[in-house]
Order: sequence, then C-alpha cells, then structure tokens
Amino acid sequence: MLVTGKQILDHAHENNYAVGAFNVNNMEQVQAIIQAAEETQSPVIMQASQGALKYAGVEYISAMVKTAAENSSVPVALHLDHGTDFKQIVKCIRNGFTSVMIDASKMPLEGNIDTTKKIVEIAHAAGVSVEAEIGKIGGTEDDITVDERDATFTDPEEAVKLVNETGLDSLAIAVGTAHGVYKGEPKLDFDRIVTIKEKLNIPLVLHGSSGVPEESIKKAVERGINKINIDTDIRMAFNEAIRDFVKNDPDAYDPRKIVGPARDAMKEVIKEKMTMFGSAGKA
Ligand code: G3H
Ligand code: 13P
Ligand code: ZN
Ligand code: NA
Repeated sequence: MLVTGKQILDHAHENNYAVGAFNVNNMEQVQAIIQAAEETQSPVIMQASQGALKYAGVEYISAMVKTAAENSSVPVALHLDHGTDFKQIVKCIRNGFTSVMIDASKMPLEGNIDTTKKIVEIAHAAGVSVEAEIGKIGGTEDDITVDERDATFTDPEEAVKLVNETGLDSLAIAVGTAHGVYKGEPKLDFDRIVTIKEKLNIPLVLHGSSGVPEESIKKAVERGINKINIDTDIRMAFNEAIRDFVKNDPDAYDPRKIVGPARDAMKEVIKEKMTMFGSAGKA
C-alpha cells in the first residue's frame, strides 16, 4: 500500500525503530525490495536519486514502485533522494511521489531555510512529505582531516532553526557517515544524535549507511535515527552476483538467467538490513 513518508517515519519515531530507504534504478531492485519487505513484514521507503530519474525516467520509476506498493499490504513510500531542483521536485510530486528530499545543505543556513520552506509549502499543499538536510554528509572519496570532518557535522542549534522555520517532516543530519564505500571504519558521533533528537523530537535520517557496522547502526537507531539510506551495499550485492554467475557460466546470454540471481542476492541483503534496523514485523 502506498503511503506518505511522514506516515512511515512518524510511526518509526514514536516506536523507536528505523526504516530502510533503498535506492532504486531498475525493476529488479524494486522487486527485491518489495519481496524483502513482505518476507520480513516491514514498512519500506523506495527512493530515486536524480541520477536514477535520468537513467530510468520518472514515469518508469513511479509506475514500478506504485505497482509494487499497490500489490502489497506493507506500507511503501516513494521518495525523491537528494532533490536539488524546484522543477524536478514538482515533476516528482505530479508523478505520485509521496515524499521528497530537498537537499540545500550546500547553502548557508539562511539559503537552506528559504529553499526548504518553499518546497515544504508546495509539497504539503499536495500531501507530500519533506526531508531536508543540514550539515555536510560528503563522500568517502573526500580527503579531509578529522578536524575538518567535525566542522561539517550538523550544528544542533542550526537544525532547530531549520525545523522551526520550515515545518519539514524529517531531517538528514551529518554525524560521521559518508556516501559510497568507506576506506576505514566510519566513526559516528552518537552524542550528537542524542542532542539533536532531544532538541527536535522529529524523525532523523542517516545517509551513507552502507558499510556502517551493525553495532553502530543499532546504536544510531537507539539514539533516534528513523530512516536509514542504503544504496552502495545493494549495488555491491548485484555486482558480485552478476560477476559470479558470468564467471561460472561464461556462455550464458539470457538476461533473466544472469540478472535473476542478482535480484535474489539483493533481496537477502535488504532483508538483513530490515532486521538490523528494527523495521521487521512493524508493517
Ligand atoms: O546519495 C546518493 C545515492 O547513493 C544515489 O547515487 O546519484 O549515483 O544515483 P546516484
Ligand atoms: P550509501 O551508498 O553509502 O548507502 O548511501 C546512500 C544514500 O545516502 C542515499 O541518499
Ligand atoms: Zn544520501
Ligand atoms: Na556509505
């Protein structure tokens, strides 16, 4: 069943668990995610990045996720990941997205507030939920020192201002995670999550969560993270399964035979995450 991001995340916030937000680019990923959600009885968020919309087209992404949602009893939200463009956000809303992210985190606070406020106004008028971001999450390829890293973390007082002045529904915070594959082990600022949660008392979002050890994920959820973004770990499972298959059967040419096992491999990874995040059994 298709629901808003807010419906899913408010329940997670009130009941102290987190929901996986998995990036989708193709049919096999959508199917892997919905099967995992059904098998674990988990609410789930499927999200498309601007790159995914460029690759597959907003109509295809929306039709695939809506088909999955409408044929399932678990709550499913369709979310735009890292939206930066007003027109594209409107296009997603028109295509039935139930949640959008406005990522104006590169702007100074005032610009972030103004941009987020504008999106909240149009999205809420259409019954669509809004995630915003404050602080700089960054990529694992960014070579920065520890001091520089800390300086990019979310400032709790700025977060309060952003929330109060915009009316956003959930907030992505920078607490030590990064997009992509980690070079070493990520060190999360758990105390910062506690402080931000106490001040805001709203659903919080963790980006760059692939590669974060189970223990750290669980600690982050206990301290108030309610949405956990996963892309890279699904990409890796897909990639590994395809490579394995082709290595063992170099003459294979039927796409279903090659990609089918990758769909199963992605499903297994997603099921593990759902259990780890505490969303299993919450549908
Ligand atoms: O946060 C970024 C997501 O992993 C999406 O990546 O822009 O390559 O689709 P992408
Ligand atoms: P990972 O690729 O590190 O899982 O990050 C995903 C993400 O944050 C999408 O917004
Ligand atoms: Zn992200
Ligand atoms: Na990551």
